[in-house]
Amino acid sequence: MSKTLKLLLIAGARPNFMKLAPLAKAIQNHNARPGNGDILIDSRIVHTGQHYDTQMSQVFFEELGIPKPDFNLEVGSGSHAAQTAEIMKRFEPVCLESTPDWVLVVGDVNSTMACTLVAAKMGIRVAHVEAGLRSNDRTMPEEINRIVTDALADFLLTPSQDANENLEREGVPEEKIRLVGNIMIDSLIAHLKKIDSGAALKRFSLKDRGFVYVTLHRPSNVDSKETLGPIVEELSMIAKQWPVIFPIHPRTRKRMTDFGLAFEPGAKVNLIDPISYSESITFTERARCVLTDSGGLQEESTYFGTPCLTLRPNTERPITVTMGSNCLTTVQSLRSDFQIILKGPARCGTVPPLWDGKTAERIVAALLSA
Ligand code: UD1
Repeated sequence: MSKTLKLLLIAGARPNFMKLAPLAKAIQNHNARPGNGDILIDSRIVHTGQHYDTQMSQVFFEELGIPKPDFNLEVGSGSHAAQTAEIMKRFEPVCLESTPDWVLVVGDVNSTMACTLVAAKMGIRVAHVEAGLRSNDRTMPEEINRIVTDALADFLLTPSQDANENLEREGVPEEKIRLVGNIMIDSLIAHLKKIDSGAALKRFSLKDRGFVYVTLHRPSNVDSKETLGPIVEELSMIAKQWPVIFPIHPRTRKRMTDFGLAFEPGAKVNLIDPISYSESITFTERARCVLTDSGGLQEESTYFGTPCLTLRPNTERPITVTMGSNCLTTVQSLRSDFQIILKGPARCGTVPPLWDGKTAERIVAALLSA
């Protein structure tokens, strides 16, 4: 008789969905392939509802072909404490009902940490995909989420060697750590074949390598007028010379309105609602430069070799700087760093090892043998 491994796959916020999609697919492939051992995987998807707008959630499920969630906790927005607590309260009964062998969490959002805490206290094993990343900046809510999740998880699946080193430095036993590669790149490679990048450029009247792709949403950049004001001013200056496409996160849009901020007249900033995954991939591949504070975009830029300026004092993804096309910048040096990029090659850096589209397969194999 076949044995069954029961998994709960957790997703809550936008950057989780492109990590979940290849895992769901790899599990389907495993179950469809006879003669691959006796163990079948019974996986259920839990959407916490941390992100809930159609453009922040549903479009990604449709576009990435993720199966409909089996559980939707519908927690919505709130303070960190309120949101985390709400996820925990609503996730506990799901664990009681499903009795999983593993809870699999991805990334570093509040949903990741909240579900890890619940599972760990119930004695359910936790596997963390994208484990070991550290910005060493505890003012970032994600850093707290990473530290707590990795401290409690039983199996730490890492994207790059630096993550293994961080975990070893923190005293995590070697047998709990497995270098599997970058799951975001699985989604990217699978999706690239399906994208009509010409259409997306045409829709926004953009020329190949003739625009800057901007995304900004970190609280440290957008939550105060003192930080967001100068960023808007600097972007205005860049956008007087170069077309800027800026799909604006709901958090950032709200702050710009609250603080009464606007781009200067003559600045060619195309401020649009959040975009689909295909459009984001297209812009990253075809931009002259990406300007961001997102973790995922640093990695996707590195894959394409597109120069990327990350508006943060640190990154939990240092390999994108040491091997890839990423540079850290500040609001004070933004314009001069952009000029340096314009003088350099249009594409640079190399793709790190194991960013090869096969990470989900390696994760499934690792779980089956754990
Ligand atoms: C969260 C993650 C961050 C990730 C980002 C990607 C945490 C701590 N942060 O930040 O790591 O990079 O997602 O987007 O988990 N809102 C909407 N519609 C939505 C969701 C949110 O309008 O569908 C608005 C609400 O006003 C909400 C605010 O955005 O209060 C922030 O949402 P939240 O999930 O708390 O954090 P993000 O900034 O999105």
